[in-house]
Amino acid sequence: MSPPDRPEWSETGFPHIWLPYSQMKTTPRPVEAVATDGVRIRLADGRELVDGVASWWTACHGYNHPHIRAAVTDQLERMPHVMLGGFVHEPALTLARRLSEILPGDLGHVFFSESGSVSVEIAMKMAVQYWLNQGIKGRARFVSFRFGYHGDTIGAMSVCDPDEGMHTMFHGLLPEQIVVDLPRDDAGFEQFDRVLASRADEIAAVMLEPLVQAAGGMKFHDPSVLRRIAALCRKHDVLLVVDEIATGFCRTGTMFACEQAGVCPDIVTLSKSLTGGTMALAATVATDRVYDAFLSDRFDAALMHGPTFTGNPLACAAANASLDLFEREPRQDQAKRIEKQLLRDLQPCVGLPGVADVRCLGAIGVVQLDGPMDLNALRGRFVEKGVWIRPFGDIVYVMPPLVIEPEDLAVLTGAIIDVVGEWSAALSSGQ
Ligand SMILES: Cc1ncc(COP(=O)(O)O)c(C=O)c1O
Repeated sequence: MSPPDRPEWSETGFPHIWLPYSQMKTTPRPVEAVATDGVRIRLADGRELVDGVASWWTACHGYNHPHIRAAVTDQLERMPHVMLGGFVHEPALTLARRLSEILPGDLGHVFFSESGSVSVEIAMKMAVQYWLNQGIKGRARFVSFRFGYHGDTIGAMSVCDPDEGMHTMFHGLLPEQIVVDLPRDDAGFEQFDRVLASRADEIAAVMLEPLVQAAGGMKFHDPSVLRRIAALCRKHDVLLVVDEIATGFCRTGTMFACEQAGVCPDIVTLSKSLTGGTMALAATVATDRVYDAFLSDRFDAALMHGPTFTGNPLACAAANASLDLFEREPRQDQAKRIEKQLLRDLQPCVGLPGVADVRCLGAIGVVQLDGPMDLNALRGRFVEKGVWIRPFGDIVYVMPPLVIEPEDLAVLTGAIIDVVGEWSAALSSGQ
């Protein structure tokens, strides 16, 4: 769209916004979204894009689902917000109970916050204080994994991949953690076993994204890896925090990824699809073992955390409505059907010059490239093709709404084949 065609609000507002993950000096002017419906995003110039990203992996039921809209509207009219300090309310208590019922094992104690990163911070505080409350000092470090991503706040950054988490730039600010390669074979597990054995007395917990290291490059691992990590945590009496913020709510084909490994972590973090992608809400959920360590006659054993909007009724109402949809509609089957179609339809990318790997898991399809990518140019090409697909790092991927119909999914995969094909041909011809 040429500048004179842009809406007035865009022209006057753009100079004043500071966008996420953007070099504001050089970033291309973003497209203006004005409405969403199902799996489509409408732009100010009238074009519609089929959405392959589900708004950073949140809009699992598609946009504007009438059931969530009705629940939020009803809650908005009765009580948009009331503090959770001193009050409780139905949306938060019902949601806490329902999450406890669907999470594995005895993960039954739910602490609400408003973003994934904050839920990770809370998990880290819980894990450290778990030991302190038992009189065990010095266990304040976390073991995390290369290619891991857990958020952008200081604690969460410290357990991200050191490069992506910009550990060098923020040296002195970030707590020092133990970031290791994800073990994938016997030698890797022996090494991991040695790290836990030699440093267990300084480790609070191991922190892992189950089955998919998402923002670190959509790297998959087998459920047996998660199972073996959980077993080693038990062996060395180290807590296991599983970050299901990206994987939770059927993204990998089961409600929670850790189900596929039969693992019940000590603490789990949830966000993104928790409200069906409609509102900011996150949860840090602990097992009885962790929770019980905070029960005491001493007040200072309590968890000292309380975001202003913790348990926001509107967001909890949206999450309860989202859980209704998971109960009523076949999201697991839809994720499995998406996986099947992605595996088939992305095949033409396999073997193209510059394509390093094509992989799919649940409703995640990834084409990994090995060659110079102009991310902005590729993103622009996808918009020209009528789809919303945003490559990052070395990957082109889709994580669409779980309700996407096969025809719309074919539009996404068709665009990937075209755009990756063009990129590959240009690479081969040395352009
Ligand atoms: C696995 C994981 N953990 C944590 C986060 C951070 O969540 P938020 O962006 O809501 O702070 C993300 C976000 O992408 C994530 O994928």
